[in-house]
Amino acid sequence: MDLLVVGSGFFGLTVAERAAAAGRRVTVIDRRHHIGGNAYSEDEPVTGIEVHRYGAHLFHTSNPTVWEYANRFTTFTDYVHRVYTNHDGVVFPLPINLGTINQFFRAAHGPAAARALVHELAGEFDAKDAANLEEKGIALIGRPLYEAFIRDYTAKQWQTDPKDLPAEIISRLPVRYTYDNRYFNDTWEGLPTDGYTAWIERMADHPNIEVRLDTDFFDEAQPLNKRATVGQVPIVYTGPVDRYFDYIEGALSWRTLDFEQEVLETADFQGTSVMNYADADVPYTRIHEFKHFHPERADRYPADKTVIMREFSRFATRDDEPYYPVNTPDDRARLLAYRDLAAGEADVHFGGRLGTYQYLDMHMAIGSALSMWNNQLA
Ligand code: FDA
Repeated sequence: MDLLVVGSGFFGLTVAERAAAAGRRVTVIDRRHHIGGNAYSEDEPVTGIEVHRYGAHLFHTSNPTVWEYANRFTTFTDYVHRVYTNHDGVVFPLPINLGTINQFFRAAHGPAAARALVHELAGEFDAKDAANLEEKGIALIGRPLYEAFIRDYTAKQWQTDPKDLPAEIISRLPVRYTYDNRYFNDTWEGLPTDGYTAWIERMADHPNIEVRLDTDFFDEAQPLNKRATVGQVPIVYTGPVDRYFDYIEGALSWRTLDFEQEVLETADFQGTSVMNYADADVPYTRIHEFKHFHPERADRYPADKTVIMREFSRFATRDDEPYYPVNTPDDRARLLAYRDLAAGEADVHFGGRLGTYQYLDMHMAIGSALSMWNNQLA
């Protein structure tokens, strides 16, 4: 073995694939029973509808290198992501755009009038002086839109009143003064035609790559554990950085998600793939309906059934899946300490969203893995 990769998400698999293509023998271990990390998907057994096991994954990028690389393993559908939100029993388009504003104020403003209205409403606070997230939100888009679309949704995401959250959590709240409600602005967007798992499996399908599942790097009962391998073979580590150092500087904080999945005996539950629930009286943040991610599979998917998944957000304990970095000032101080420790680890390369404690979209994970391969490992 020339390289050990810990974690088979997009970061680990990209490094493994590049190394294998360059003639290195690579072993990839993952503690889960499947490869692919959080992008893993599987067919719901009753309906055959592809379900994204760790939350909805939409691929989008403006990076030509990443787009070309991804297309070596999969083609993409022409799916374009759009999100709607239910507030006070009425459905509005997101991100907040001219349609949202006119529907909310029961008006027919053009772009200039809508811009002037939001500017006037936002005058209540100066964004520079905002003492908390609530004041920042009001300073950016004005109280009515903030209270309808941001306040309770944010409170549900963070289990915290936005008055008690730091203003820095949001730097901007996008408002579009057109009717464009495309969720992403990237050059390329789509879903893998044969699903995420087929894409991921093609990346790992190389004679130089050996994958070992259900294998935890910190389990000394298995041969490729930390104690046995560090210093013996180059390692790319994509697990949590604080776990690697036994939480010596304290645990980094994360939010996690709980999912409640249901098969419904109906052709179509909500008419779209993602519906947010903006208000406090609904405990979940959103509902995904997976068949809408693949309208081109209509002839394969059942006409009388659908799969929905409600998403709930909360702070993670050490036993939960870490999803989004909380990134408090304490976390940032700890991360710096862990970076110093990581720099002192001989031939261990920390990467990916867990290894660097930052939220990375798939294209960012792939892009940074390609950079690590080119600049540090090749
Ligand atoms: P990832 O978490 O995928 O992989 C890390 C792997 O390491 C895991 O398989 C884990 O089991 C393994 N591991 C950890 N500790 C280990 C140990 N001790 N021993 C062995 N293995 C270990 N992106 C995007 O572009 N569009 C989207 O719509 C979304 N949506 C989205 C929703 C949610 C809820 C989340 C949390 C994330 C997204 N993403 C996304 C981001 C996407 O999931 C992310 O870019 C990739 O997961 C990053 O890949 P990594 O390889 O860095 O981590």
